[in-house]
Amino acid sequence: MNVLSPGSRSTGSDANNGTAAHASSLAHRPTIIETMDLRKVYRTGFWLKAAPPSLKQCSLEIYKGETFGLLGPNGAGKTTLLKLLLGIIRPTAGVAKLMGEPAGNHDIKSRIGYLPENPYFYDYLTGWEFLSYTAGLFGIQGHAKKRRITELLDLVQLDQRSATKKQMRRYSKGMLQRVGMAQALINDPEIVFLDEPMSGLDPTGRYQVREIILSLKAQGKTLFFNSHVLSDVEKICDRIAILDQGEIVCIGEIKSLLGNPNHYTVKGHGGSLDILDQWLRDITFKDGYWQGILYENPFEFMATARLMNAHIAKLEVAKPTLEEFFMVCIQQRRQEAERAASERIKKARSPKKRRLLGKPLAH
Ligand SMILES: Nc1ncnc2c1ncn2[C@@H]1O[C@H](COP(=O)(O)OP(=O)(O)OP(=O)(O)O)[C@@H](O)[C@H]1O
Ligand SMILES: [Mg+2]
Repeated sequence: MNVLSPGSRSTGSDANNGTAAHASSLAHRPTIIETMDLRKVYRTGFWLKAAPPSLKQCSLEIYKGETFGLLGPNGAGKTTLLKLLLGIIRPTAGVAKLMGEPAGNHDIKSRIGYLPENPYFYDYLTGWEFLSYTAGLFGIQGHAKKRRITELLDLVQLDQRSATKKQMRRYSKGMLQRVGMAQALINDPEIVFLDEPMSGLDPTGRYQVREIILSLKAQGKTLFFNSHVLSDVEKICDRIAILDQGEIVCIGEIKSLLGNPNHYTVKGHGGSLDILDQWLRDITFKDGYWQGILYENPFEFMATARLMNAHIAKLEVAKPTLEEFFMVCIQQRRQEAERAASERIKKARSPKKRRLLGKPLAH
């Protein structure tokens, strides 16, 4: 057997069996949020005309203690779903349950926290006054209130002086987002809903919000949040769902959605082109280096490279980022929707259909 050619040996995917055997660690947890065929059609204007559905037959299960990210393009229906879960708006059809109770249940509301997409703050109150007011709504008073607000200001890294002395109309976007985060946590909620928590924050602010989310996750809280910042979602979420035009396109653990890598990107120079050709696909050449995709065992390829005097500059797992996965998902769905629409038009124009509709065929 020619040792320099890929032959009867283990494949690249065998080398990854450790990751392939990834088992779901969440399924054994109790369900804390559940939706069944949830649908929302807004009615607008004087005649309350029905708009196209903002959410269509959405069925979801979120497990206790998980961090769940809801992604989707603008207008996909993310905020609508969040508002339905919180009981802020009513569904047109279907059911939403939190901790086994229908969404909007009064007792459940005291056990959840919510940071809205565009929170409204009372301009002339200081952050402290606003948090004090919010604490009052949950019946937190006296020393307990003072202690809780101090803890939360620490957690969201808003300095005490600004919180007590400055009115919120003088706060920056980042400071307001921090106050919003603090009010969402004032009642030490079991489930925290965050609608775009990173929106408008600078990289430091985003990092801090990410740290807060991770610390809440470590405390065993369930987090459900909408976000457009996919790199952050990839770092903090256990599972995600992608929503497009009111429909869930895909849902699952990030690791399984992005797949187990079974190929590698290899870059190097030297060696024999004939041999490289047997090992790599899509070979390109640039600045004296070759680059290609390896589907075989990387260790065996490196041994071959040594034998043919090739120098490997880079060998890395070719795994898509969440952003790449998201784009492909949305594009595929849109293409399928376009195909289905053109099929429908074709069918509607077919002679058989026209006869069925009672319209005589033109000769
Ligand atoms: N109160 C409302 N009345 C009528 N239509 C609405 C209302 N709220 C949302 N919509 C419509 O429902 C659809 C989904 O909106 P939604 O705000 O849920 O999207 P989103 O995914 O949160 O978008 P974004 O990423 O921009 O925040 C949109 O077409 C929007 O115009
Ligand atoms: Mg929204």
